[in-house]
Amino acid sequence: MMAAKWFSVQGQKLGFAFFMLLQHFVHVSYSFPEEIERGSLIGNIAKDLGLDASKLPSRKARVDSESNRKRYCDINLITGDLIVAERIDRESLCGEKVSCILIFELILEGPLELHRISLQIQDINDNAPVFTKEEIKIEINELAVKGSRFRVNEAHDTDIGPNAVQNYVIQKNNHLVLEIQSKSDGSKFAELVMYKELDREEQQEFRLLLTALDGGTPQRSGTAVIHVIVLDANDNAPVFSQSVYQTDIPENSPLDTVVLAVTATDADEGLNGEVTYELIRISETGRKTFMLNPTTGEIKLIGPLDFEEESTYEMRIEAKDGYGLTSDSKVIIDITDVNDNPPVINIKSLTKPIPENMSPGTEVGIINVQDRDSEINRQVRCSIQQNVPFKLVPSIKNYYSLVTTGHLDRELVSDYNITITATDEGSPPLSSSKIVQLSVGDVNDNPPVFEEQSYSTYVTENNKPGSTLCSVTARDPDWRQNGTVIYSLLPGEVNGAPVSSYLSVNGDSGVIHAVRSFDYEQFRSFKVQVMARDNGSPPLSSNVTVSVFITDVNDNSPQILYPAPEGSSFMTELVPRAAHGGSLVSKVIAVDADSGQNAWLSYHIVKSTDPGLFTIGVHSGEIRTQRDISESDSMKQNLIVAVKDNGKPSLSATCSMYLLISDNLAEVPELKDMSFDESSSKVTSYLIIALVSVSTFFLTFIIIILGLRFCRRRKPRLLFDGAVTIPSAYLPPNYADVDGTGTLRSTYNYDSYLTTGSRTSDFKFVTSYNDNTLPVDQTLSKSPTDFNDMSFPFFSP
Ligand SMILES: *[C@@H]1O[C@H](CO)[C@@H](O)[C@H](O)[C@H]1NC(C)=O
Ligand SMILES: *[C@@H]1O[C@H](CO)[C@@H](O)[C@H](O)[C@H]1NC(C)=O
Ligand SMILES: *[C@@H]1O[C@H](CO)[C@@H](O)[C@H](O)[C@H]1NC(C)=O
Repeated sequence: MMAAKWFSVQGQKLGFAFFMLLQHFVHVSYSFPEEIERGSLIGNIAKDLGLDASKLPSRKARVDSESNRKRYCDINLITGDLIVAERIDRESLCGEKVSCILIFELILEGPLELHRISLQIQDINDNAPVFTKEEIKIEINELAVKGSRFRVNEAHDTDIGPNAVQNYVIQKNNHLVLEIQSKSDGSKFAELVMYKELDREEQQEFRLLLTALDGGTPQRSGTAVIHVIVLDANDNAPVFSQSVYQTDIPENSPLDTVVLAVTATDADEGLNGEVTYELIRISETGRKTFMLNPTTGEIKLIGPLDFEEESTYEMRIEAKDGYGLTSDSKVIIDITDVNDNPPVINIKSLTKPIPENMSPGTEVGIINVQDRDSEINRQVRCSIQQNVPFKLVPSIKNYYSLVTTGHLDRELVSDYNITITATDEGSPPLSSSKIVQLSVGDVNDNPPVFEEQSYSTYVTENNKPGSTLCSVTARDPDWRQNGTVIYSLLPGEVNGAPVSSYLSVNGDSGVIHAVRSFDYEQFRSFKVQVMARDNGSPPLSSNVTVSVFITDVNDNSPQILYPAPEGSSFMTELVPRAAHGGSLVSKVIAVDADSGQNAWLSYHIVKSTDPGLFTIGVHSGEIRTQRDISESDSMKQNLIVAVKDNGKPSLSATCSMYLLISDNLAEVPELKDMSFDESSSKVTSYLIIALVSVSTFFLTFIIIILGLRFCRRRKPRLLFDGAVTIPSAYLPPNYADVDGTGTLRSTYNYDSYLTTGSRTSDFKFVTSYNDNTLPVDQTLSKSPTDFNDMSFPFFSP
C-alpha cells in the first residue's frame, strides 16, 4: 500500500481547535490515490487516534459520513485498520477541484466520541485530454500579418495538476506555429501564431493535426483537427461586453427565469455583423438546467436549481458573426441557499432495552441531526417532549446524547415513545420530528409478595393423606423468569418430625396438601413456613406462616379408668350397712381423649341388681345410695354403668361395679359367689381367694403405715383409709401432652382416688367428695413410691 498518510490535529481557528479537543475531537487525515482496490489499507486509525483497538467492538466504533453519502471507507473492528470500502473516483467526486477531500466521522460510544477523518484523494492520470470538438474551425483573414495570434479551443483533461493538459503540439506547416499560454488558474491553452502570411489564391483552406498532452506518467494525449479557412474580406470578430459574466440566483427559482444576458458586438455592417451565441462548454447538468437564446444571448432557467446538488455553474459562450468569426466568454452562475431542507434526525445508537436499574444520567442513545442547507439554515435546535424521564444533552457538533433523568421502573412504565423535534434557524424555520421507541428491560427488583400476611387453615382429623388443605399465592410483577414464583416449604420440625412429613406444597400452584392423616389427640395445630421464590438470579424470596388447625372428630370412646375394665380385675366396693340415703359409695372415673362435646361424658346405670338402691351422677359419675340400706337388701349388688360422650354419633363404654353391703370383711367369703354369678371357673375362685388373702395382708400393712402416720400427726386430715392413687399406667398415652383445655388435667390424676375393698372396721365414707380434700403433693410426697408399685398387681393380676 503506497498511500502516503499524515496525521494531524487541525484547527482552522485556535478557539475552534481548543473546543473540539475538549470534546475528544481529533482530526486525522489520510492521503491516498484514487481508484485503489477495495479493502486496501488506508491506515490504522486506532493507533493514530491512540485508541485501544480491542475496545472498538464494545464501543460500537463505526464510520459515518456527515451527509448520507456513500461511506467509501470502513473500519476493521479487530485490527483498527481503516480500509477502502468503495471505488473512489476522484473525478466524479470532486471534478476540477484542486483538492479532493472526503470527510467522515468515526463514532465511538460509551462515552460518545467523535473523530473527524479526512481522506485526501490524490489524482492519478487515468483520463486523457479531450477536445470538445474533433474539428476546430479557424477562420483567418488573408490580410493577417505575421505575428497574428489565433486562439485554439483548449483540450480538457478531467485529471488535475500535472495530470491535466500540459502541452500542445501541432503538425508541422508553413504558416502557423503553436505557442502555449498559462491562464491565471494554471490551465494551459494554445495560440496559433502566424510566421508566414497566407495567400487565399495559393491555398483557400488546410487542415492541421493538434495534439494535447498531459503531464502524467504514462503520458496521455488527445487530438483534434484544426481546419484553417482563409478569408477574403476585411472582417471583424464579435466582441463580448465582459470577459466574465457572473450572477447569483436563489435555488428553487421558477422555470423560465432569465438568469442573465450576454452581449457581443460586431463592428461589421449588415449580415456580417449579426451575432449568434452558442454554449460551448457546459457540464451535463448545466445543459439540462440552462438554455441560451442564440439570438438574444439570454440565459434562461429550464431545470430545477438545487443548491445542495450544485452550488455553482460555469460555462463558455461563443459568439459568432455572419462570416463565422468567433470569440468566447465565461459565465459563472452562483446558486444561493434557501431554507428548503428540514433537519433530518438520525438515531445513531440506542440501548435496547434500557435496564430499569440504570442510574439517572445514563446515556441511552445518540442522536445526530443533519440539515442539508447551509449557513444559518443548517443551524438546528433539538428538543424532546416533556413528561418523560429523558433529556437531550448537546454533545459534539450535531450530536446529542439521550440521557435518563430519573429512575425507570419497568413495572410502572415499560415502554416510552418519545418525540424528538429538530428545528433549524432559517426563516421561515423548518422542523421535523421523530418518534423513538424505548423499552425498559426487566431487572429482578421485586420479591414475590404473598397476598395475605399469614394463612390459616382448618382440617378435621383423620383426613385422607394427600387431601388439599389450602393454597397460598404470591405475586411478582417482574418479567418472565424474574416474576415466576416457586413455592416451597421451609425446613422445620413439628413434634420432632420434619414438616415435609406433614405437608407438601405444590411448587407451581402453591396448593398445600396433607402428607399424612392428622390426629387431633396428638396435636391440635402447627405452623409451617412457606417460601415464595422467583426464578431470577439472584432470586428474591419472601416467607409466610401457614397455621394448620386440626379439628376434633369423635373418634375416641370414653375410657374408664375406674373401675378397671371388666375381666381384668375384681374390685369390690364395701358399702356399710349403716349408709344413709345419698351416701357416696363409689365413683366411676372415665376420660375421653376427644375434646369439647366429644369428650363431655355422661354416666348411666344400665343394669343393676336392685334398681332402686343406687343412683349415678349423670356428669360426676358418683354412685350414691338412693335410700337407707335395709337389712332386707341383698348383700351383693351389681351395677353396670355406661359412660357416653356427647359426640355425634356418640361413643360409649361400660363397666361393671361390684358392691358388697357389709360392715365386716369377715363376710367376704361370700364374695366369690358374686363373681360366680357370671363365672364358674374354679381357677378364678382360687385366684380370688388368693387375691383376697393377699389384699388382706396388704391392707393390714397399709393400716399399720397409716396408723403410724396418724400417730405422728395426731390430727388426721383424712377421713378414710386406704386411699390410693390411680396408677399413671391407667392414663392413655400422651395424656399429659394435652394442653390445659383437655378433659383430664394432669392434677386430676392425683385428685381422683379410689377406695378398694378394705377390712378396716373404722372405714368411713367421705360424704363431700372434693378435689381439694387431698392435695397432690401430700398424697404423693407422703406415700412411698413402692406403695404405688405394690398396689399395681392387685388391679392387674
Ligand atoms: C408506541 O408506539 C407503538 C407503535 O406506534 C405502539 O404500538 C405503542 O403502543 C406505543 N406505546 C406507547 C407507550 O404509547
Ligand atoms: C431478570 O433480571 C436480570 C437482572 O436481575 C436481568 O439481567 C434479566 O435480563 C431479567 N430477565 C428478563 C427475562 O427480563
Ligand atoms: C425466609 O426464610 C429463609 C429460611 O429461614 C431465609 O433464608 C430467608 O432469608 C427468608 N426470607 C425472607 C424474605 O425473610
